[in-house]
Amino acid sequence: MKKKRIGILTSGGDAPGMNAVIRAATRACISYGMEVKGIIRGYDGLLKKEFTDLDIRSVSEIINRGGTMIHTSRSKEFATEKGIEKAVENCRDMGLDSLIVIGGDGSFRGACELSKRGVQCIGIPGTIDNDIPATDYTIGFDTAMNTAVEMVDKIRDTMTSHDRCSVIKVMGRECGNLAVGVGIATGATGIIIPEIRFDFEKDVIERIEFTKSTGKKHFIFIAAEGAEGVDNLHKRIEERTGINSIECVLGYVQRGGSPCAKDRITGSEMGESAARILKDNHKDSKMIICKNGAVEDIDLEAGIKIKSKFDSKLYNLSYIISI
Ligand code: F6P
Repeated sequence: MKKKRIGILTSGGDAPGMNAVIRAATRACISYGMEVKGIIRGYDGLLKKEFTDLDIRSVSEIINRGGTMIHTSRSKEFATEKGIEKAVENCRDMGLDSLIVIGGDGSFRGACELSKRGVQCIGIPGTIDNDIPATDYTIGFDTAMNTAVEMVDKIRDTMTSHDRCSVIKVMGRECGNLAVGVGIATGATGIIIPEIRFDFEKDVIERIEFTKSTGKKHFIFIAAEGAEGVDNLHKRIEERTGINSIECVLGYVQRGGSPCAKDRITGSEMGESAARILKDNHKDSKMIICKNGAVEDIDLEAGIKIKSKFDSKLYNLSYIISI
């Protein structure tokens, strides 16, 4: 009997732990009697029919590596009707029965379009932003958060020595989860996120003045890149308080590096989970999610429709203790 052929691709921004997912999904698919093709550079590779055979050994020595061994991209062509049709046709030509798509919400919307046209897709959440409402966790978030914390700790040393104020920008697009985590873990004076409008006087100046009055001499604000009003915030702080202030954009350092244990373990669980669904020969497209610590699956289309519900618990905690 012909073996079921599975394509794996990573799409959008890379995230530490994607390799652990590729490894687990590949090995589990093979153990369950399927064969695996790695599509190179995400949906772009699907449009160009660029792929590599993945076997048990070709995914060796990657669990500890950041990035994605099969590369990734943000495909403009795939975002068009013509592109999607071509991708569906290519799946047929390449003999792919199903796809495992590792990425964020944009990648999942693409997978959903393929699914509507008859290509079964299993989505695995991989993004440092942790911004997919259907799942409590996305692969790469914890590693990125720890990397950012390490960087902020280093900045803090020099800020303390110079009695300065720093506005440190972290990634996350329109989502403040990374900023909140980093802000709590570094004891930032303030956290600025897209979900909660900040008041310059109350949330920045008053906090600096109050903590200064209790003896604090250096100040850190963690700002999510997608928050409104954070451009040149350091200049406004300096003008208003006279405190020497700097801006520091952490940038792509947050996406790199060896994945932490959580991303390796959860990534492995999610990869195997996708393979198990495919082995059981379901035809439906699914999204693998993490709920209350357990890896589960839900319908892909229903999953991408779940809207964000921002949990302000940690943000409020920071307000209480960062004084
Ligand atoms: O979605 C992951 C992410 O790293 C975001 O935090 C960031 O805004 C974006 O990707 C950057 O994308 P690019 O790699 O295309 O510059």
